[in-house]
Amino acid sequence: MTDTVLDISALTLSFGSLRALDDVTLRIAAGERLALLGHNGAGKSTLFKAVLGFLHPDAGRISVAGHAPGSDAARVAINYLPETVSFPRSLTGREVLGYFSGLRGAPRAAIADLLERVGLAQAADRAVGTYSKGMRQRLGLAQALIGAPRLLLLDEPTSGLDPISRHDLYSVIAEAAGRGSAVLLSAHGLEEVENRTDRVAIMFRGRLRAEGTLEELARRAALPATIRVTAAEGAADRLHAELGGQRINGARLEIDCTPETKLALLARLTAHADLLRDIDLANPGLAEIYRHFSKHMDQEDRT
Ligand SMILES: Nc1ncnc2c1ncn2[C@@H]1O[C@H](COP(=O)(O)OP(=O)(O)OP(=O)(O)O)[C@@H](O)[C@H]1O
Ligand SMILES: [Mg+2]
Repeated sequence: MTDTVLDISALTLSFGSLRALDDVTLRIAAGERLALLGHNGAGKSTLFKAVLGFLHPDAGRISVAGHAPGSDAARVAINYLPETVSFPRSLTGREVLGYFSGLRGAPRAAIADLLERVGLAQAADRAVGTYSKGMRQRLGLAQALIGAPRLLLLDEPTSGLDPISRHDLYSVIAEAAGRGSAVLLSAHGLEEVENRTDRVAIMFRGRLRAEGTLEELARRAALPATIRVTAAEGAADRLHAELGGQRINGARLEIDCTPETKLALLARLTAHADLLRDIDLANPGLAEIYRHFSKHMDQEDRT
């Protein structure tokens, strides 16, 4: 049996006449990482705040490790990195973590290791006021990693981080999931979460548009893969006549294929190996999948 940590069902939440969350159902098990994607104003931060018990839904229910949002037990179970982090400027990074460790009853002995894991060991004894934006963000993440939260809520954890820091951050998140935390994080970078979370959920105007592993979403979207073929010298016309597809330039062809027709096409290409210089296979990425589900929604809205 999977150990569901976060259980959200049919959640609807409005601000006046604006329906910020509309019938959202989502479950995350212990040790699982789910990335929530969506445009500005899609409802991601609102969902986090509802899970924290800061906002109250009109309908539906949320359970955090079996507890109601905002209850003492739910609060103890969650560590949260808000969208914008701010700490007292005059405290050092080490002091900030010491403060939060005290609040959560976590051992102070773990602080040095945490600072090391987020790459702040060198800056640990400097005032936070001297930190760069990315360093403040890392301190925010270190704060969220204190103790062993059942549920980690990370609202845009990579905002302001350079690419290498992003990479490191996902390793740290994987470690936390490896220790059994359920992780819900939001992100804008679509390619960013590829292979770095277990599932993705795409939110569009308060509604959960699609949810699953990347492979499941790709299958559901049934987007074509593209095979890019470079013809051997002087063979482009013949290859085009044999295989169809789109001419890109004098020597290159692009052929779309579905998961079902891909292998047959590769077999045909192999049969024409003498006409080929190179083959490149591009599967649809998260960006294309995201665009597909957003577009689909637009079309539904119009009908
Ligand atoms: N306190 C509030 N009062 C009124 N409307 C709000 C409030 N908080 C959020 N909203 C509205 O709810 C919708 C969802 O906002 P939310 O902050 O959840 O979006 P988001 O997906 O986190 O966007 P972003 O990517 O920009 O952070 C938006 O239309 C926003 O204007
Ligand atoms: Mg937000």
